[in-house]
Amino acid sequence: MSSLIEHTAKILAKATRAVALTGAGISVESGIPPFRGKGGLWEKIDPMRYAHIDAFMDDPETVWNVLIKDMKHVLDRARPNPGHTGLAELEEMGILTSIITQNVDGLHQMAGTRDVIEFHGNFAWQRCLACNQSIETAKVDLGQMPPRCGCGGILRPNCIFFGELIPHRELTRSQQLSAACDVMLVIGTSATVQPAASMPVIAKQNGAVIIEINPEPTPLTAHISDLPLMGGAGSIMPRLVASVRRHLADR
Ligand code: OAD
Repeated sequence: MSSLIEHTAKILAKATRAVALTGAGISVESGIPPFRGKGGLWEKIDPMRYAHIDAFMDDPETVWNVLIKDMKHVLDRARPNPGHTGLAELEEMGILTSIITQNVDGLHQMAGTRDVIEFHGNFAWQRCLACNQSIETAKVDLGQMPPRCGCGGILRPNCIFFGELIPHRELTRSQQLSAACDVMLVIGTSATVQPAASMPVIAKQNGAVIIEINPEPTPLTAHISDLPLMGGAGSIMPRLVASVRRHLADR
């Protein structure tokens, strides 16, 4: 593994427009469970019953009680881990330009990354279904279910439910960045949900080197990833970033 990290760092040190695609796995070491695999949220609850827009519109109280309330408790406590801070350092070094994240937890921004594309929205804000006003999730009164806006309308998180489209701006920018990057770091995603999962394919087709960090193989590992680093982001990223620093200092 050490020589693979060294080799990967050498390639990253030469990159000037690297992009990262991140998923739930990068936040596992911050205490947020992933969706799939061991301990995954979708093992406990059926996403089509509780995370689909139709389910929310039919019965917002149940979706708030089963899914959203717990998410709020978990995300309130979560803080960035070395996976997030490692990416912020790569941006600072002029290597990474942007992160495309499927996560709604805001931890990349908290770690200091400036350009974060929130592909599936963010949990920091709620939107009123009636008047469309936004309210900070931290200020939402959980005493009544479903929580309501001052106007009486029901609040929904500013995240994408299954059955909803990715916002046009985020999708277009992500596709453009994926096509133009020289390296793509794919970290902590099962690469099973479209269209996010197609970003590494776009990057590869346009000549980028694909680095994947994940303790488990994914559909990308065998044919799309050039450099699969098998392990947790919180332990691999600090080693990778330290090695990139050494390569930059040796120049
Ligand atoms: P998943 O839960 O599908 O996948 C998490 C990935 O992280 C798996 O491949 C794990 O092996 C890996 N993993 C676990 N621990 C890790 C660690 N410490 N370091 C690095 N990787 C680790 O999460 P996503 O791919 O993000 O969408 O899921 C994509 C979308 O599916 C989510 O945005 C969400 C979900 O349904 C919506 O809710 C619309």
